[in-house]
Amino acid sequence: MSELCAVILAAGQGTRMRSKLPKVAHPVAGLPMIAHVVEACRAIQAKRSLVVVGYQAERVREALVGEAIEFVLQPEQRGTGHALLQTEQALSGFEGDLLVLPGDTPLLTSRTLEELLRAHRQAHADATVLTAEVREPHGYGRVVRDRTGELLRIVEEPEATPQEREIHEINTSVYCFAAIPLFEALRAIRPSAVKGELYLPDVVVHFRERGRRVQALRAADPDEVRGVNSRAELAEVHRLLWRKAAARLLAEGVTLLDPESAYTGPLVSIGPDSVLYPNVVLEGRTVVGEGTTIHSGCRVRDSKIGDATVILDGSIIQESEIGERCQIGPYAHLRPQATLKSNVKVGNFVEVKKSVIGEGSKVPHLTYIGDTSMGDRVNIGAGTITCNYDGFVKHRTVIEDDVFVGSNTSLVAPVSVGRGAIIAAGSTITEDVPADAVAFGRAQQINKAGRASALRAKQREKR
Ligand code: UD1
Ligand code: CA
Repeated sequence: MSELCAVILAAGQGTRMRSKLPKVAHPVAGLPMIAHVVEACRAIQAKRSLVVVGYQAERVREALVGEAIEFVLQPEQRGTGHALLQTEQALSGFEGDLLVLPGDTPLLTSRTLEELLRAHRQAHADATVLTAEVREPHGYGRVVRDRTGELLRIVEEPEATPQEREIHEINTSVYCFAAIPLFEALRAIRPSAVKGELYLPDVVVHFRERGRRVQALRAADPDEVRGVNSRAELAEVHRLLWRKAAARLLAEGVTLLDPESAYTGPLVSIGPDSVLYPNVVLEGRTVVGEGTTIHSGCRVRDSKIGDATVILDGSIIQESEIGERCQIGPYAHLRPQATLKSNVKVGNFVEVKKSVIGEGSKVPHLTYIGDTSMGDRVNIGAGTITCNYDGFVKHRTVIEDDVFVGSNTSLVAPVSVGRGAIIAAGSTITEDVPADAVAFGRAQQINKAGRASALRAKQREKR
């Protein structure tokens, strides 16, 4: 079996999006569009993966941080053929097959890519084009076959005759090529007379004229290969992926009270007996355990939520980890790197950032916990604030096991509160509190007997 490299074309601006952001960096269900394509490629285990970048290359690179990808620059966007030609040097000496993909087909699955590869290898083809029968072919390159069904060529819409525009079989922009003849062809083909761009699909005709084996494979599911060129198509793709995820979750034993308003991304997994109320958005690589309930208006991105946890309405959870049997919200905000162990309660209007909250600890109301490490069984009174920022740098707060913090306390970091200590309500804590101490950090109260009625009398005189 010949070796395989993958190339994703992602240098275009995506003019039809009317956006400052490059098209392939637009988020789809919480992940950049191109990250979905990379995800689909993962299972085919290509020897190398290259991404051609150009327009706002930096933004596209950022969208793929942490991925094992080589970036190749296309300094000027002169068409898909020109984009692929830019990889020639990086791939010099490579004699295997190239899987070529556009960066704007986020619904693509690895199963379809595997089928394409199998067909390509079985036929010993020089080019295999993945095509699709669609109801609305407008905007796509059309697939022209002869009477026997052989692939003749692909014609782009601007060049297509009225009859060709009637063709409903379209080019998906996913291909498999033998690398050596591909680069020969890309060097030889000429730019389109209409658009002045080098069209990658023109390789088909070039190959045919030289007796090379070309073939077209129809994708089983035409929805999977939808390209996103406009905001309308971006919305359409979301609708399709949410619907697909909803069907998958229902089959896996998850209750969706309203599948039509379950906005779950393709890389989200949820354990059986979990329940999603209407209008829950689950994005990125989120994992939800078994028997967990998420109420309406919650948004969770790139987070892990344990079993039997309840997330009440209106909560936002990002890049965080929540243990088993926790209760979160309503209206809680877990910002990146919030780690909640099991049996934790984080109540209404509580914000947690870059902090660990130990087992069985409770932060029930109106609190900010940032840059904090909190032990087990801690109780945080309403209105407590960790003052982690002095206007210059962030500092850490340490709260050990079994601490009780009275309501409306300010913990001015860096500060630590020892095991079992008690802090009186309304304290401003600027010094470390030793274990088992009771800390009062507030002005002493003075009661002046009988002064209230005297004060009222004085006020009456004034009026
Ligand atoms: C392309 C195909 C068309 C197919 C459709 C499927 C060509 C000429 N046409 O059209 O047959 O039906 O995809 O969705 O190939 N890109 C670059 N550099 C460039 C131009 C484009 O890297 O100079 C990248 C884009 O970032 C994008 C991909 O190539 O990810 C496809 O480009 P796009 O402009 O979307 O092509 P379509 O007009 O959709
Ligand atoms: Ca496209």
